[in-house]
Amino acid sequence: MPLTNPGRSILGKNDNGRRFILEQFGEVNTTPVPKSGIAAFQSTREHRRFTEFVDTVRTHRYIGLCWGPPGVGKTLSARHYAGTDDWEQWQTIFEDDFGPVPPRVLEARTAFFTPSVAATVREIDRGLPTACQRISFAIDYHEHGLVDPYVYIQSRSSGRTELLIIDEADRLKTTGLEQVRDYFDRHNMGVILIGMPGIEKRLARYPQLYSRIGFAHEYKPLTPDELTAVLTNRLPPGVHDDEGIGHATAIATIVRVTGGNFRLVDRLVTQIERIQKLNNLDGLTPEVVDAARQALLIGH
Ligand SMILES: Nc1ncnc2c1ncn2[C@@H]1O[C@H](COP(=O)(O)OP(=O)(O)O)[C@@H](O)[C@H]1O
Ligand SMILES: [Mg+2]
Repeated sequence: MPLTNPGRSILGKNDNGRRFILEQFGEVNTTPVPKSGIAAFQSTREHRRFTEFVDTVRTHRYIGLCWGPPGVGKTLSARHYAGTDDWEQWQTIFEDDFGPVPPRVLEARTAFFTPSVAATVREIDRGLPTACQRISFAIDYHEHGLVDPYVYIQSRSSGRTELLIIDEADRLKTTGLEQVRDYFDRHNMGVILIGMPGIEKRLARYPQLYSRIGFAHEYKPLTPDELTAVLTNRLPPGVHDDEGIGHATAIATIVRVTGGNFRLVDRLVTQIERIQKLNNLDGLTPEVVDAARQALLIGH
């Protein structure tokens, strides 16, 4: 039952409880809905290591720093952890009954924030609390069927959000980093900054923030063994007449030229599939991989 309180409108399940989650900050969600048809998420060893790191930061409510080269899967791992895809779909539904809060969001209690390329002070000032409060409100909504920040004081101050992940943290300038530090100090939540290699050295120049970093984590490319396993799943052998030697060689070539970079693997596999289709080929051969490579800008 929605609670009533004189002189104030109460936001119940079927009226505008969700308005708080969606519109309280005057923002319309502009994030795109997830692309369909992309390859399924693979729970790699690096993802499992990342998950363990994130859990620790969340439990201890420290600042955690994660860095790794582009394309190895940092963003996807973080979004997977926080349930961001489900969340974006859920909160972009514009019907009255928008269904239960995605379970992963409730489990992770993690807000995900990506500053824009030229993030202004104001954008970050609003962006951090908005991201966190939405999660807190969603938890209230799940538990009470309504959102009322006058009653559930905890969610008003984002107190139900346990972790904030900031992707593309390289974009934060000195002031941005200071804002994150200040936000962290005023809340009881963990914060993870994800960036490119070198961010750990850059942050060392900001003792205020650096001294609060409790955990550091390097996100590494896939190992050749694991990449071989991932590719063997992704690219079935098809029909071959050489006992799989061509297939195995082709996989080994992909492993070598991509160097364990997930994004490169994805682009190469897309080209391979395109070439197979154009030529009506079933099997995977080194020739197909070579042709696919030539269509991409891989400097190997
Ligand atoms: N665990 C994974 N399972 C499946 N595909 C993945 C995985 N990690 C990364 N990818 C692929 O690699 C691409 C790049 O990953 P991303 O997380 O954006 O890298 P980063 O943030 O490290 O630059 C993704 O768009 C996706 O296609
Ligand atoms: Mg990324």
